[in-house]
Order: sequence, then structure tokens, then C-alpha cells
Amino acid sequence: MSVNKEVKKITTNTLQKMKVAGEKIAMLTAYDFSFAKIFDSAGIDVILVGDSASNVMAGHETTLPITMEQMIYHASSVIRGINRCLVVVDLPFGSYQSNSDIALASAIRIMKETGAHAIKLEGGEEVIESVKKIVSAGIPVMGHLGLTPQSIYKFGTYNVRAKEDEEANKLRRDAKLLQKAGCFTIVLEKIPASLAKEVSENLTIPTIGIGAGMYCDGQVLVMHDMLGINTEFKPRFLRQYLNLHEQTTKAVQHYISDVKNKDFPNENEQY
Ligand code: KIV
Repeated sequence: MSVNKEVKKITTNTLQKMKVAGEKIAMLTAYDFSFAKIFDSAGIDVILVGDSASNVMAGHETTLPITMEQMIYHASSVIRGINRCLVVVDLPFGSYQSNSDIALASAIRIMKETGAHAIKLEGGEEVIESVKKIVSAGIPVMGHLGLTPQSIYKFGTYNVRAKEDEEANKLRRDAKLLQKAGCFTIVLEKIPASLAKEVSENLTIPTIGIGAGMYCDGQVLVMHDMLGINTEFKPRFLRQYLNLHEQTTKAVQHYISDVKNKDFPNENEQY
């Protein structure tokens, strides 16, 4: 029997047990009530209300512009759609970087106003005091290392991170620091699979990879990418499970033609 199937509600403890049992964690992003309801009924372990909402929901080029109020709107919509999975919400850019008191206040606001179960923030050593303070307040924290999109203007590109020793060593150190500070999981984004394997084996908490290979304890994808809503984004790590862009286009064209040809509505579709 899998750990996932045994539980009525997925908690941070469930994820820990899954790592120990060698059962992979499946996480997807979602930003609204209807998709959250589908993903939860399908049995997803974790929904991440990612600040990627800035890209895929609002059409911004980066994750930087999304506001606290917008994240709260998305997260509370998701929470109304779920019964079973764990919901994690990204702290948006600017809501935690300045100091640990501000970080704690932002985390408390997200938890109070959305009903979410945990928060995620990006970075290692730089955010350790904030992680400690948030965890001390009883709020579970998911870390995020490797390609951290809120720092895109520092990196300059969305290329694979931590290929060189210096950055890989910092990532190894940061992962240990985040674990010690109390994080319950760490997202590893776009780093070499061999490094993700080593980090995953050296941590007791689970890692969740995106573009970080097969050895992470779980995987996450952005829903618009895996459902093929956004077909322009085709990185090597992405597996597209549906072509919703094509299917939606066809459905809409069919509808337009039915309306224009007076085929819709028919006699049974009216009062
Ligand atoms: O915002 C997001 O969708 C994320 C995932 C890519 C991990 O942080």
C-alpha cells in the first residue's frame, strides 16, 4: 500500500514518510478553483500556487511583478477547490527579501488570508533567518534552490544552474542550511541530475525537482506547460501530457462555426 493512498489528507509528515518509503511525490502548480479541484480529485500530492502565475496567468515576462494581493486571490481560490492535497504558496518577490520580520509578516498573511498549508521562498543562506522565524511561528516552509526565477536579472539567463564547482558547493551548503533551519522540502530547479541526486541522498527531507532529473524525491511541473496550454515553452525537461492549446483552438473554432451557421443552439438547446 502506498503512503499516499493510506492518508485522507496529505501533510508535511506524509511527504516525509513518502521519502522514507521511496515513494515519489507528485506536485503541480495550480492557480484557480476549477483546476485545483480536478488535480486534487486526480490524486495529486501537492499543489503549488506558484508565483509563475505572474507568467502563465497574467502574461508577465518574469515572476517579479506579481503582488501579495494577487497571490492571495489565487491561493484562496485553489484552497476552495481541494479536499486532500497539501497546498503550498509562493511568497512573492519583495515580500520577504528585506528582513526576517517582514518575511514572517508576509508568511502569516498568506496563511491567515488563504487557508494554505505552507509557504515557499527562494534562496539559501540569504534567507535562513527568515526561514527560522517562519518555522518558529509554526508555518511549514518549502525551500527553492538552483534556478530561482525571482533572481533572473542577477543570473541573466534561464540556463541550467550550478554546473560549476563554486555554485554547486554553495547549493550543497544551502540545502543543508535550509534543512537545519526547518524546511520540510526543497525544490531543486534546473540543476544537473548528478548534483540533485547527491543532494537528495544527503538530505533527510524530500527534494522536489523541476529540470533536476530522476533522482529527486518528487517532481513538479507548471500546469500550463504539462497540459500543453503554453506550447511555446519547450525546455528539454518538460513532458507535455496533453495538447490543450490545439484541442481548445479546435473546440472554439467549432463553436464559432456552429454559431455562424445557426447550428447552435438547436431546438433541444433552448427553452
Ligand atoms: O512558481 C513556480 O511555478 C515554481 C515552480 C517552477 C517550482 O516555483
